[in-house]
Amino acid sequence: MIFSEFAPNETSRDASLAMKLLFQPWRWRKGKEIHNLKRRLKSRFFTPDTHISLFLTGRAALYQYLSSLHLHPTDEVLVQAFTCEAVILPILELELTPVYVDVNSEDFSMNIQDLKKKYSPRARVLIIQHSFGITPKDRRKLIEFAKFHKLHLIEDVAHGFNQWLFRTKRYTGAVLMSFGRSKLFSSVFGGAIAVRGVRAGKSIQIGERTLPNPSFWMLLQIIFYKINSVIIKSTYSIKIGKIIHFMFKQFDLIIPEVTKEEKKGHFNYSFLRTFPNCAAIFMLEQLNRFNDVSSKRKKASQFFDTKFNINTAHTLGLLRYPVLCDDPNKIRSLALKQNIQLGRWYSQAVAPNELDLELVGYTAGSCPNAESLCKRIINLPTLISIPDAKRMVKILTQS
Ligand SMILES: Cc1ncc(COP(=O)(O)O)c(C=O)c1O
Repeated sequence: MIFSEFAPNETSRDASLAMKLLFQPWRWRKGKEIHNLKRRLKSRFFTPDTHISLFLTGRAALYQYLSSLHLHPTDEVLVQAFTCEAVILPILELELTPVYVDVNSEDFSMNIQDLKKKYSPRARVLIIQHSFGITPKDRRKLIEFAKFHKLHLIEDVAHGFNQWLFRTKRYTGAVLMSFGRSKLFSSVFGGAIAVRGVRAGKSIQIGERTLPNPSFWMLLQIIFYKINSVIIKSTYSIKIGKIIHFMFKQFDLIIPEVTKEEKKGHFNYSFLRTFPNCAAIFMLEQLNRFNDVSSKRKKASQFFDTKFNINTAHTLGLLRYPVLCDDPNKIRSLALKQNIQLGRWYSQAVAPNELDLELVGYTAGSCPNAESLCKRIINLPTLISIPDAKRMVKILTQS
């Protein structure tokens, strides 16, 4: 079975690492790997003077960064529609106001013209999302806009990014990363904020140090996930995996990526925690084989580019490949019959579907392009072989 959404990065190597770790509880919470991970991330993606702060989730990293800016209640945060609750709930929890900006159809990222329309002098922050890991085509203009209006700039690269973008000394924004289980690299849960300059680094580091640790049970859930997900994936097509997945969810052995509380529009404080050492160990393993993973993603992305006649691929390959079609549900069920699970980022302006858009301050019709894309999008997996990519193109063209 091929998965776009469920644990795309987990392999038997991760599972055996988790098995070993299961018997080393003294390494779960604290350890040298946290420091090593920061060093590795910095040397691979950033400049030497970048400060990286790690948290249990990307949403915690965003929450902590926004609170370190000491903004006033009702200050505005400009953010694109075609995003998810993990970005919006921290903004709302800090009593800031999200102002939704429409996106382009080509890159699923913020449209500069609509940004100019939605801007007001109450805006303090601009979040530029690199949807699916595509570098926004208006990125340069968006950054200039932020500079001109003295906005704090956050680039949300939770889905992935061009690895050369943040290695320049002139860069002054903050970079938000996620190491969640469905992202480019997975430690099941994890997130980071990377900022340049000592002052910016210090204020976010205070938050990083003072947060509570995740519970022991949560650490166990993280370690178990690395084992369970591999068992589930390898037995899913013969139905056993499906049953195990259901059972694990019932017994709370798998924490949902979006909790019930979040679906009701509430920020979940159990995700606002420190980054545990066991997650750093998993991340280091993911980084060790990152070149192979990205080259596979890149090949599939390039293949889809040629088939669909578009140009999205970049240095890391896309996390998922977005395709527009008339009937996403029909294509999803056709693919499922061939043991391929397609993704659905994003099926409404602020995902997931269960979320009441009014609760997150989104007014229906305010970002028509994002709404239209949400109705037509499906995501193809990219961590696949070219013959599998060909099968996917066949499903799409035959439907
Ligand atoms: C665009 C985007 N930004 C940020 C996040 C936050 O990541 P996390 O799940 O680690 O909180 C997500 C999560 O799905 C996301 O899709």
